[in-house]
Formats: sequence, structure tokens, C-alpha cells
Amino acid sequence: MTNFIDPKSVPKRTLSTGEQIPCIGMGTFGSDRFTPDQVSNAVAGAIRCGYRMFDCASVYGNEDQIGNVFAEAFKSGVVKREDLFITSKVWNDMHGKGDVLLSLAKTLKDLQLDYIDAFFVHWPFANYHEPGCSGDARNPNSKPFSVERFMATWRQMERLVDMGLAKNIGMSSMTIPKLEAVLPLCRIKPTVIEMELHPSFQQSELFDYCVKRGIQPIGFCPIGSPTRPDRDKTEDDVVDIQMPELVEIAKAHHVHPAVICLKWAVQRGQIPIPFSIYENEYVSNLRCTVEDPLSDKEMDSLNSLDKNCRLIKGQVFLWPNAKGWEDLWDLDGTITK
Ligand SMILES: NC(=O)c1ccc[n+]([C@@H]2O[C@H](COP(=O)([O-])OP(=O)(O)OC[C@H]3O[C@@H](n4cnc5c(N)ncnc54)[C@H](OP(=O)(O)O)[C@@H]3O)[C@@H](O)[C@H]2O)c1
Repeated sequence: MTNFIDPKSVPKRTLSTGEQIPCIGMGTFGSDRFTPDQVSNAVAGAIRCGYRMFDCASVYGNEDQIGNVFAEAFKSGVVKREDLFITSKVWNDMHGKGDVLLSLAKTLKDLQLDYIDAFFVHWPFANYHEPGCSGDARNPNSKPFSVERFMATWRQMERLVDMGLAKNIGMSSMTIPKLEAVLPLCRIKPTVIEMELHPSFQQSELFDYCVKRGIQPIGFCPIGSPTRPDRDKTEDDVVDIQMPELVEIAKAHHVHPAVICLKWAVQRGQIPIPFSIYENEYVSNLRCTVEDPLSDKEMDSLNSLDKNCRLIKGQVFLWPNAKGWEDLWDLDGTITK
């Protein structure tokens, strides 16, 4: 079987701008496990195999290596710039006035691009933590969400669209109360929002809220991030790829349970951005979008597996008097101060 999947055969999603983008992308967060070169080699392989969307971020520490891969791919004619949908994100320590533009400038230089297809506010807080810090690390300067501070950052994001540097702007790890507060204030609305989405954490309310407003959900940790850093693990976390119903469906389709998570995601309508540096894995992740769909019954069964199990709890972004990670997610329906 060839490892090339014709990008034309991969289903597309249409953004509110009318632009078509692939129904799946590749994540590039190597976590603490892989070197930037291992990740960028995977990006090179993935382009050859037919991936046309890549989810990058400055904080992943590998944009310059990935930039070399993009430059080489354009030069050698493997792919044209306009055929790729490349995203990146401004990290929490670059929310200050003028910093968002500086952040994108650095990203564009590293990725060797003259525009980004979508630029995200990575987290709705300017709270910063040292890379690789432990789960209970707290920065005494951290603050709760503020509409004013967020909108000051968003105004800078809007300017990036005005300047032609970002085709789309997006938010990430938002909640409905936060969106309710900021969306009416946006001059340029987000066309895409990244959120954690996998079978045991379906966020149906947030998902529907976005879809209803023409905002395309992009699902991170689509396989339930089985190899995420220990600081992001707690005892009660569900392991998606071990859920018996999901494993049964995987057996019936003769694929790894990871692939079922992705089929579910694509058929539901979010854009999953799975990560893997292994060719056999990233090829099957792309291939599963073009063959052997899940039946309605299987989709119903997977839809019923939601356990409200958030994996990326974000506790390192908590402010000094916060009670716990739940405070980041506005669980009582209002913005937690
Ligand atoms: N916006 C945000 O704040 C945010 C937050 C988190 C993540 N993200 C983005 O989302 C991307 C994906 O999230 P993630 O990497 O945490 O989690 P994930 O994609 O759910 O899980 C990745 C892991 O799943 C395994 N895997 C992948 N394909 C497989 C296959 N076909 N068969 C078996 N195992 C497979 C791999 O494990 P092995 O390596 O052991 O094979 C891989 O490390 C990130 O890379 C990043 O781009 C964004």
C-alpha cells in the first residue's frame, strides 16, 4: 500500500470566509519527548504523504526547524505555499502591547513564511510559566482572566489581519462565558477556535456554540494525548484508547484505537490535529479520513462515551488565590475572578 494519500481526496471544511481547509492536520508539539529535528522530520514526511495542514506554536520550540522543512518543500516543488494551511500561536508572555506583532514576526521568520494561515491566542491568560516546570509550579504574577486584557491582545490580533500577515485569527482554550464576553467586542471575529476534544471529552456545548456562530472547532489532543507530560496527568484521567467500546470498534475496523478517535472527530466535524513522529502512525491518521467511515451506530456509541475528562487542565496558569484548575474553566457559568 502506498504511503501517499492524495490531498484532493481528503475531505475539506469551509471556514466562514469561504476558504476550504483540510479536515485533519498534524500537531507539532513534541512534548518533552522528541527533539525539534524529530518533529520537523515528521513534518517533512507528512507533507510527502499528503498532509496539508500543520499546527505550530512558538512555545513548541521547533518553528525554525519546521521552517527549514517548509522552505525545502516549496523549493523542491513537493508542495506550493498556497496549498498548505499553517497555524501558529502567540505564547502567554507576548500579550503585551506590540508584542503580538513581534511574536508573529519571529514565527514568520522561523517558519520562513510571509503570512500565516491562522494565528491563535494560545491561552486566554498572559500567565507565564517556565517551560518544563512541574505541575504545581505557580507564577506569583499570574492573574485571572480579564476581558479588558484579552481584548487588548485581540486588538493586536485584528491588526495582523489588516496587515495581511494572518489570514485568520483564532482563540484557544476558551469557555462559553469568556466567548460571550469577548465575541461582541471583536471587530474581526475568530474563524477558528482550538479546544481539547476527544471521545472522553467532547465539550458538546462549546462545540455547538462555535459551530452555530460559524467558528470552526479545531480539536487538540484528539487521541487523548496518551503520552502527554506527567505534569498534565492525574489519577482520574480516562485513557481514550483503552475505553472498551472504542477498542471494540477499532477491532471491527482492524485499526489502532487512535484511528477511531480521529474518524469520530472528522465525522463529527471538528478538525483533529493528531501528533506523531512515526510514519506508520501519521499515515494511518491521514488515511482514515478517506476510507472505511464509521457507521451511524458506531458514531452514536462513541458520542455516548463522553466522561467530561479534561486532560490539559492548565493548573500552571493559576493565579495566587485560585482554588484549583477548575477556576480556569468557569465551571459555574460565569467568568471566575
Ligand atoms: N492549543 C493548545 O493549547 C494545544 C494544547 C495541546 C495540544 N495542541 C496541539 O494538538 C496536537 C496534538 O495533541 P497531543 O500531541 O497532545 O495529543 P494526541 O494527538 O491526542 O496524541 C499524540 C500521541 O498519540 C499517539 N498516536 C498518534 N497517532 C497514533 C496512531 N495512529 N496509533 C497509535 N498511537 C498514535 C502517539 O504516541 P507515540 O508517540 O507513543 O506513538 C502520540 O504521541 C499537539 O501536537 C499540538 O499541535 C494544542
